[in-house]
Amino acid sequence: MTAPTNDRFLRALRRQPVDVTPVWMMRQAGRYLPEYRASRTKAGSFMDLCMNPDLACEVTLQPLERYPLDAAILFSDILTIPDAMGLGLHFETGEGPRFRKVVREASDVAALPVPKVESDLSYVMQAVKTIRRELNGRVPLIGFSGSPYTLATYMVEGGSSKDFRQIKRMLYSTPDVLHALLEKLALSVADYLNAQIQAGAQAVQIFDTWGGSLTPSGYQEFSLSYMKKVIAGLQPDLEGQKVPLIVFTKNGGQWLESMANTGADALGLDWTTDIGQARKRVGDRVALQGNMDPSVLYASPEAIRKEVGRILESYGPGNGHIFNLGHGITPQVDPKNAGVFIEAVHELSEKYHQ
Ligand code: CP3
Repeated sequence: MTAPTNDRFLRALRRQPVDVTPVWMMRQAGRYLPEYRASRTKAGSFMDLCMNPDLACEVTLQPLERYPLDAAILFSDILTIPDAMGLGLHFETGEGPRFRKVVREASDVAALPVPKVESDLSYVMQAVKTIRRELNGRVPLIGFSGSPYTLATYMVEGGSSKDFRQIKRMLYSTPDVLHALLEKLALSVADYLNAQIQAGAQAVQIFDTWGGSLTPSGYQEFSLSYMKKVIAGLQPDLEGQKVPLIVFTKNGGQWLESMANTGADALGLDWTTDIGQARKRVGDRVALQGNMDPSVLYASPEAIRKEVGRILESYGPGNGHIFNLGHGITPQVDPKNAGVFIEAVHELSEKYHQ
């Protein structure tokens, strides 16, 4: 493979030396950018934006035009899989995702197809190819999927939820139904990530946004074990290189040791875990990605630089750190502050890589 001109991100994932700590932001293409809002208006809706490869490419590249980011992330959504399973995804303005059909009974699960990703989700693979062509080797492109458990929460609840009443009821009263659903999702997620890799994704991330809402044993049984199935089903080779995998369980800080044993190359951390302590716990098994509280971006440039400096110092010298926020950047952030953040990472990290 012709290595990207800027390959810091891939080098850090492989725990190889870098000149400065690479940085990207979850949700870096999003509503905090006025140019994103303009593209979404042009597309008509959020899903129209996802389904149009040229517009998806346009918004993927927008944050890279503004900031010296070290990676691009495919513009899409984790809910494309349940949509391809026929649940009818739509977004009400200001309300988040909604499904026309929900999954509650054994018969609902039995009726769900495993999507044929190459045809049912061809718009995603087309976006990956278009973005790779337009990036032209500038920085690596990250593909992604939701974890089986996280996807299941949306499918069973019918949308976002605060208390996960429906899926927890299913988990405790009819666990076999949930296992059958997770089994289908694990197959779908593995197919989906493999197709993104074949289309050109140079790293992939599994977003386990809601695994951290489970009990410790529930996490092992309903989230981690299905991420392991996904990982076992991956064929992570592209252009002669192994495609690194990042696993991000939000609120998963107490389970890092078991996450590090899944075969992931890197773990994503939210801000509730100290990254220096996390590094001691996982040793040299995995790289770490994270983990500034996204709310720091509401503060002053001085406060942002201070917090970046504190996290870099906590991680300490050496390889294997990819800087990121502990969760997605929020729509209310001033784009100038994102710039302050990214520049601070590059500038303040140099001394840790000598
Ligand atoms: O990071 C990026 O720039 C790539 C694009 C990306 C989006 N969603 C675009 C998006 C990625 C990686 C996701 C992942 C995603 N989607 C997750 C996992 C990460 C996380 O945030 O925990 C989840 C849980 C979803 C599901 C989802 N999509 C929700 C709950 C919402 C509504 C809430 C919100 O933030 O508005 C979305 C919509 C969504 N996905 C938007 C974007 C830019 C906003 C939609 C809009 O433009 O109106």
